[in-house]
Amino acid sequence: MRSLRISKIASLVSYDTVFDVGADHGELEKILSQSDNIKKIYAVENKKGPFLNLSHNVEGLTKVTSLLSNGIKDLKEDVNSLVIAGMGGINIVEILLENEDKLQNVKEIILEPHSDYELVRRILVILDYKIDEEIKVTEAGKNYLITRFIKGKATYSNDIYRYGLHYNEESNNLEELKVINKRVKSTLIEKKLKELENHEN
Ligand SMILES: C[S@@+](CC[C@H](N)C(=O)[O-])C[C@H]1O[C@@H](n2cnc3c(N)ncnc32)[C@H](O)[C@@H]1O
Repeated sequence: MRSLRISKIASLVSYDTVFDVGADHGELEKILSQSDNIKKIYAVENKKGPFLNLSHNVEGLTKVTSLLSNGIKDLKEDVNSLVIAGMGGINIVEILLENEDKLQNVKEIILEPHSDYELVRRILVILDYKIDEEIKVTEAGKNYLITRFIKGKATYSNDIYRYGLHYNEESNNLEELKVINKRVKSTLIEKKLKELENHEN
């Protein structure tokens, strides 16, 4: 079955030449390959095992080029859309900062970090990208936040850096509790948060 999260990531791609770091199973490549708007997809893995698996999964997809490479080190000049999904925010930020000079032609960066959203937003703003769109997805009981950043200067309030564009007072309590519980790690609070979230969705 097609992942809703991956479909939503694909729906945010608005340019024709994509570089997908950590392409893994190749699901995004399968979806993007079907779109007439997409010319080329570079699918990147940095470890041999996952790379071989990826190459096997995208076999026959003529628009896809698999690369065994680290992060955006080998990002090509023709790339205008960068995707990094399904990893921790710190890893994502390090991938970008390690080769920040490669971003010159990249018009949009679509990110789906599993953690450290505030760090990701603040670093993207320093790199001269601003938040263009954010989508919340719930799949198999887990919440994901996918953000498209586009070139441009921006400054945001601390709340937006922390919670994103869809920040509002109503969600503040839950989001704040999540942050606090990361620190105190209470299973009872965790359980209550899950209950409240399921109730909201
Ligand atoms: C959990 S998977 C996510 C796969 C897919 N992007 C998704 O969202 O479902 C993360 C993948 O990123 C790869 N990865 C992690 N760091 C990387 C890096 N610096 N360069 C390339 N691939 C990396 C891992 O090998 C792994 O296959």
